Amino acid sequence: MRPPPPRHRGHRGPLAKNLFIKSFGCQMNAYDAARMADVMLPHGYVPVDRPEDADLIVLNTCHIREKAADKVYSELGRLRALKAKRRPPHGTPLIAVGGCVAQAEGDEIFSRAPYVDIVFGPQTYHRLPEMAARATRALEHEGARRAAGARVLDTEFPVEVKFDHLPEERQRPGVAAFLAVQEGCDKFCTFCVVPYTRGAEYSRPLADVLGEAGRLVEGGAREITLLGQNVNAYHGEGRGGRGVSFAELIRRLAEIDGLWRLRYTTSHPLEFDSDLIAAHRDVATLMPFVHLPLQSGSDRILAAMNRRHSFDAYRRIVDRLRAARSDIALSSDFIVGYPGEGDAEFEATLAAVGEIGYAQAFSFKYSPRPGTPAAALTCQVPELVKADRLSALRARLDGQQKAFNAALVDAKVPVLFEGPGRHPGQLVGRSPYLQAVHVAAPPHMVGRLAAVRIEVAGANSLAGRLIGTHPAAA
Ligand code: 5AD
Ligand code: SF4
Repeated sequence: MRPPPPRHRGHRGPLAKNLFIKSFGCQMNAYDAARMADVMLPHGYVPVDRPEDADLIVLNTCHIREKAADKVYSELGRLRALKAKRRPPHGTPLIAVGGCVAQAEGDEIFSRAPYVDIVFGPQTYHRLPEMAARATRALEHEGARRAAGARVLDTEFPVEVKFDHLPEERQRPGVAAFLAVQEGCDKFCTFCVVPYTRGAEYSRPLADVLGEAGRLVEGGAREITLLGQNVNAYHGEGRGGRGVSFAELIRRLAEIDGLWRLRYTTSHPLEFDSDLIAAHRDVATLMPFVHLPLQSGSDRILAAMNRRHSFDAYRRIVDRLRAARSDIALSSDFIVGYPGEGDAEFEATLAAVGEIGYAQAFSFKYSPRPGTPAAALTCQVPELVKADRLSALRARLDGQQKAFNAALVDAKVPVLFEGPGRHPGQLVGRSPYLQAVHVAAPPHMVGRLAAVRIEVAGANSLAGRLIGTHPAAA
């Protein structure tokens, strides 16, 4: 995960309040957290780095796996102590839980953590100012004796679309920014909570996306990652109500002056059409790195997961992508130990990894999620088997990642610098393949694209030396 842009240290004026947001989970959550800060700024809430300094503390939560969801309650335990001991000048902070755990668990959060003031879902955060105002009034009027009814719960899926109510202005986008173009999911993979927590698929109209992208670039962004749970299912409204495909969206965004790099995540094999493959051939700013989750290499498991494609269909997409752009590299998500997964089916996943060859990938033990069809299956795989499979798969993926990184030693790679590096005098930037690259470079190179000769390849990052300004930056 990239470092967030620098934040303010504290109160800016007499009416200002301080806002601390901690975000868990995916990049969409990171985007949402940034947008929450944008929503709150006109209401006097200034972002701060520490919960100790905040008047409003927001946990933006993730429900994708049990481990992620559990983090909320341990974090809330720490905040409880903070809330209990806080004295003037700061006063008692409000604690809000947002994101997918909030959506899934609703007011159960109040019973487990009664000191929480606000619970809201991923589709209602445009109403956070109103929720904060109501909770503040309740706190002021009722203090410690506050009735349970004074707590604010807002997890109904609203009729209105939150994007229509978010402010146009975004604070300090940074060199590499995220932009949500699509949200929600209608695919209902049997293991996944997303269709329940994020709701139905929605695509933002073309004009909105172009407007936000233009403002990000004006604010200094040089790279934009388009976000969506099924980003390539994008079908936004264009001029005169005409439908716009994801490939067309990419082509339109690529026309923005000063935008040097485009990425997108997460895509689904089902909607990976010829137009998108052609965009990879034609659009130079579209980075040659595609996150395309496979989940399993076994057709039986893919069918049980309701992925609605075979391994062969996936393989054909990859072949066509490579034919369209020879330097393309792939990333994926995998789940091991899906209910009923046998040894041979797991072996099929290892074989698929061997065949495709990944630059990087995420892998997880299957985690039963309440309310999803797979959680109700009786053929759950024992924890130890899952752990063994995960380490075998990770060993294979790590080997591929190391080899991919090592192959770049001595190569000349374009790097977009994003900020200070590990050591003084260093900057860190990203290669086209999202690898972090550490380079001795002056601070004014942040936001610039430069050619770097790679000298060292680690498991997770590269280091190299500056050899010139990249033509795309000239
Ligand atoms: N258990 C384990 N991994 C999961 N993912 C989604 N749901 C689960 C689950 N119940 C993984 C998938 C998905 C990624 C974001 O998280 O691999 O692509
Ligand atoms: Fe979850 Fe499947 Fe939708 Fe991805 S496509 S968000 S894994 S239900």
